[in-house]
Amino acid sequence: MPYSSLISAFDLHLENYCKVILQQKPIELYEPESYILKLGGKRIRPLLALIGCDLFEKDYKIALDAALSVELFHNFSLIHDDILDAAPLRRNQPTVHTKWNTNIAILSGDVMLVKAFKVLENYSADEFKKIHLLFSKTSIEVCEGQQNDMNFEIRNNVSVDEYIEMITNKTAVLLGCSLQMGAICAQANVKEQQAIYNFGKHLGIAFQLLDDYLDAFAPDKDKFGKQIGGDIISNKKTYLLLKALNVANKNQLNEINNLSKEQNNDVKVKNMLQLYTDLNVKQLCLNEADKHTQIAIEELYKLNTNSLKTKTLENFALNLLQRSI
Ligand code: IPE
Ligand code: IPE
Ligand code: MG
Ligand code: MG
Ligand code: MG
Repeated sequence: MPYSSLISAFDLHLENYCKVILQQKPIELYEPESYILKLGGKRIRPLLALIGCDLFEKDYKIALDAALSVELFHNFSLIHDDILDAAPLRRNQPTVHTKWNTNIAILSGDVMLVKAFKVLENYSADEFKKIHLLFSKTSIEVCEGQQNDMNFEIRNNVSVDEYIEMITNKTAVLLGCSLQMGAICAQANVKEQQAIYNFGKHLGIAFQLLDDYLDAFAPDKDKFGKQIGGDIISNKKTYLLLKALNVANKNQLNEINNLSKEQNNDVKVKNMLQLYTDLNVKQLCLNEADKHTQIAIEELYKLNTNSLKTKTLENFALNLLQRSI
C-alpha cells in the first residue's frame, strides 16, 4: 500500500486526540465524538491532506493537524447529515442520533466543528490565516450544498448542472480543501495550490457520484455500512434519478412519480432499483464519475511534481472509482 506510512501516522495522531477528548466532561458531549471517530471510515480526507504536503516534498508530519482538522469536520458533517437524512446506519453501526438522541447529535456535532478549527491553532500565524480562509470558505459551501440537497428532495425540475453544483459544494470542495491545506503546509505556491485543489474537487465530484451509485447498488451491504436505498427513500435527486427521469417513457415517469409517494420503503426501493436497471442509468452514473476522474488527473499533470509521486496519486484516484464502500 503506497500510502501506508501516512495512514499509520494519522491513525496514531487521531488515537492521541481521542484519548484526550475522552477525559473531558460532560461525557454526553464527547462520547459520541469518540464513538464516530473510532468507527473508522476510509480516512480519505486526512490522507489527502498528508498527500498534498508530501507531493510538494515536505515532511507530511507537518500536515497532521490539518489532516485531523478535515477528518473532524467530515465526521461532524456526517453526524448532522444523518439527522437530515434520517439515516439509521453509519459505518455499519447505529448513527449518533439513533444511538443517543437528536439533541446529543446536534451538540456533539457542534463541538466537533469548533474543534476542527481549534486544532489548527498549532500552526504559525501566517499558515493559520491561509488555512483558515480556505477552510471557512469550504465549510460555508458544504452547508450550502447540504441545504440544496434537501431543497432538491421536494423539487421536480432539478437539472444535471444544478446537481453537479450541489455535490461540488456538499462533498467535493472538502476533498480539494484537504489537499490544498497540505499544500499550504508545504508552502506550495498559489498556482500549485489551485491545481491540487482542482484535482481534489473533480475527484470529489466523482467520489459523490460513486457514493450515489453505491447507495443504490453496493455489492456488499455490510461492508458499505449504510442503509441501501436511503437516497431512494428520501427522494434524493441523485444522478441516477435525474438520468432515469431523462430517459423514462410516459408509463415509467408515472411509476417514478407514484413511487416517490410510496409509504412502504421496501416496495419503493425494490421497484426504483428495477427501474434504474431497466433504464440502464447505472452505467451513465459510472461514466460521469469516470469523466470527472479524468478531469482531475489532467489537473494533476499541470503540476511539475515528482513523477513517481504524481503517478501514485493518479492510481489512487483511479482506485477510488473502483471502490465498493
Ligand atoms: C461519506 O463520506 C459522505 C460523503 C461525502 C459521500 P465517506 O465515504 O468518505 O465516509 P467514511 O469517512 O469513509 O465513512
Ligand atoms: C453527504 O452526502 C455529504 C456530507 C456529509 C456533507 P450523503 O448524504 O450522500 O452522504 P452519506 O451517503 O450519508 O454518507
Ligand atoms: Mg446522508
Ligand atoms: Mg445527505
Ligand atoms: Mg450518500
